[in-house]
Amino acid sequence: MLSKEDNEFACRVGPGTPMGELFRRFWLPAMLPDELPHADCPPVRLRLLGEDLVAFRDSNNKIGVVEAHCPHRGASLYFGRNEECGIRCVYHGWKFDVDGNCVDMPSEPPESNFKDKIHITAYPTAVHGGLIWVYMGPEHLRAELPQLEWTQVPESHRSVSKWYQETNYLQGYEGDIDSSHASFLHTYLDPAASPSNDGSAIDPKQKALDKAPKIVVNDTDYGFRYGARRTIGEGTYNWRVTQALLPTYSLIPFIRFPAGGRAWIPVDDNRTMTFYISYHPDRPLIDQDLAMRRTGRAFPPELIPGTFIPKRNMTNDYLLDREVQRTTTYTGIWGVNDQDRAIQESMGPIYDRGKEHLGTSDLAIITARKRLLNLARELQQGIEPFPASHGDVYRVRAMDVNTPVDNFDAVIASHGSGLGAKM
Ligand code: FES
Ligand SMILES: [Fe+2]
Repeated sequence: MLSKEDNEFACRVGPGTPMGELFRRFWLPAMLPDELPHADCPPVRLRLLGEDLVAFRDSNNKIGVVEAHCPHRGASLYFGRNEECGIRCVYHGWKFDVDGNCVDMPSEPPESNFKDKIHITAYPTAVHGGLIWVYMGPEHLRAELPQLEWTQVPESHRSVSKWYQETNYLQGYEGDIDSSHASFLHTYLDPAASPSNDGSAIDPKQKALDKAPKIVVNDTDYGFRYGARRTIGEGTYNWRVTQALLPTYSLIPFIRFPAGGRAWIPVDDNRTMTFYISYHPDRPLIDQDLAMRRTGRAFPPELIPGTFIPKRNMTNDYLLDREVQRTTTYTGIWGVNDQDRAIQESMGPIYDRGKEHLGTSDLAIITARKRLLNLARELQQGIEPFPASHGDVYRVRAMDVNTPVDNFDAVIASHGSGLGAKM
């Protein structure tokens, strides 16, 4: 449970809010490179942390992310002409480069130096891990890009998808670190019918038997990792170890690659961009990998063409099929990602956490809130978030393993490098 004040503190991300300031200390993934496919391509609307922005790729292939409204009289630069190393407002022709300098002002006399006094907000950008990232914080504190393993592999070894979720970022992130819902939301009524290749070491029948995993949390310098221990037989346990990397990355447990996680990036208080990443550290992804994900229904949602809005959405009840729900799957909704989004959006855009009743299985969620709130409060006191300036601390993996070991620290120690511990 969070008080009304803490809930607001945790969820509001606009300029000047404490959580908004915390997010502005980190690089944030914001776009797929395909959204800006070539030099001088059409500009794109981008809304991030409650700010309306326009992204464009200039004639030299430099990516600009600038405030949306022209400082002359406020026209949107989205309608602008992207030409000769700058974006030109179509109202009166003022033109801006990727650094926000006004480089042409044809509506003023040639001898005027007015244009030299005009600048618009322009944020630094980077292409990293198959995505376009934006840094919206103070320049002298510019963060390091996080070295999540999926950002370090060649393009061919990774697939990244993006879609919108109509909730606050925290509702989505909380779903990623909520191991116990895996025994319900994503299951088949007959566990034997569940796709066997869903990436979990635990037999679906056994997962169904122990629906109340024991949760153990370890704080780390990048956030925390937590183990969910299920008893799967006499003296044998399944440990799903999830990585929660601040501010809002997850790495989901697996037994084999391709695997990955998600990132929850606030568009504003009520809307989130979800990035879903799958990668293999050692080889390119192949058609068979994608086919396996489709069989396991761990597939990105189908999108309405030309948008990042999922086809299964709240306006059509996510194409819920009550007959499938009665006979086959727990939800009657098709895919894992759609199931998560449906249920998180059903809570409303910002759930009033004063009304919830958390149990022992919610320990990781409590931890995530505590870490985020503490980081934002520390920042208010002038203490900068450690992982923002230490991109190397993100080099960890999740794991999913069956073992006789019942102690979390011992599991982490015995499974050594790359499995729940630093690579
Ligand atoms: S409003 Fe943009 S040039 Fe006038
Ligand atoms: Fe889920």
